[in-house]
Amino acid sequence: MKILGIESSCDETAAAVVEDGRILRSSVVASQIDIHAVYGGVVPEIASRAHAEAICGVVENALLQAETTINDIDAIAVTNAPGLIGALLTGVSFAKGLAFSSGKPLIPVHHIRGHVAANYLAHQDLEPPFVSLVVSGGHTSLMRVNGYTDYKLIGCARDDAAGEAFDKCAHVLGLPYPGGAAMDKLAKLGDKNKYKFNAGNVDGAEFDFSFSGLKTSVINLVHKETQNGRVIDDEFRADIAASFTEALIRAVTSRLQLLFEREGACNIVLAGGVAANSHLRNAVSATAEKFGAKLFLPPLKLCGDNAAMIASQGYYEYLAGVRGDTSLNAFATSHI
Ligand code: KG4
Ligand code: ZN
Repeated sequence: MKILGIESSCDETAAAVVEDGRILRSSVVASQIDIHAVYGGVVPEIASRAHAEAICGVVENALLQAETTINDIDAIAVTNAPGLIGALLTGVSFAKGLAFSSGKPLIPVHHIRGHVAANYLAHQDLEPPFVSLVVSGGHTSLMRVNGYTDYKLIGCARDDAAGEAFDKCAHVLGLPYPGGAAMDKLAKLGDKNKYKFNAGNVDGAEFDFSFSGLKTSVINLVHKETQNGRVIDDEFRADIAASFTEALIRAVTSRLQLLFEREGACNIVLAGGVAANSHLRNAVSATAEKFGAKLFLPPLKLCGDNAAMIASQGYYEYLAGVRGDTSLNAFATSHI
């Protein structure tokens, strides 16, 4: 069964064709990073307009690269939540129009479930149940995936997501948006023990995350140092990046450790844009190995937003009977 996936929840317009949820036929991603970089972050209204301009060409390319046409597609899956509302609506409206005019079933897909499904494309043996940790620009969620469409939240970020914290720290260090990948490289050159940063804990919710205070400590330290006349050079950037990354990783691995201690080892699936971070990948691998848990890591090209992951999850939503129609709406926030 061939599914056309469409993704437009933030600053990537993407379309892909996936067969039976597992076989990637094509994946096209048009990034808007250059457009937003001048503002130091995503400008929602500009994002919606850029999606509207790109979406026809992106979908056409995805069909072409899969050597197929809309006639051979069995269903259309689209991200309808969560994300920037105007951006989501562009993809949802396009998908509704295409599904209606071609007579194909329409399948709404939750963006976070999509991130998890990126792993189905890379690991043919991966099947629920497992525990998944999605770390992205907008979300940090630890979830129990009991079935392909059966999710239970264990913990999530109460304020800034991990990627948001990465990007804001990169910004104060003078790195271009989005700075996560640059922070990853810099952290390799720095001293992770140079500065003592900590991520927050949430009273009564030990699996929840709080990265806003960590972000603010970094910003305050950089401001204080520059006010004292310090020049932000590569050595300073590298030490900050390494110390910040260390604190963020400690928050993530301590929660995984707690889970393993309480419930024993289980299969773990990492996902989301920040899952591309080399330090996080190594640290989560080490924690999983220590407890004898099997870890599944997404390939780097499927960590960030793409539509292949939406088409993959769309297949399982389809099998579960999930359908949208012309009244399908988009939602900026949505429980998993
Ligand atoms: O999953 P994603 O593409 O978008 C959302 O759904 O939010 O994640 C984007 C985030 C950005 O914050 C970006 O800086 C971060 O992923 N990111 C990284 C790395 N590569 C991308 N963060 C840390 N290390 C990386 N190597
Ligand atoms: Zn995402």
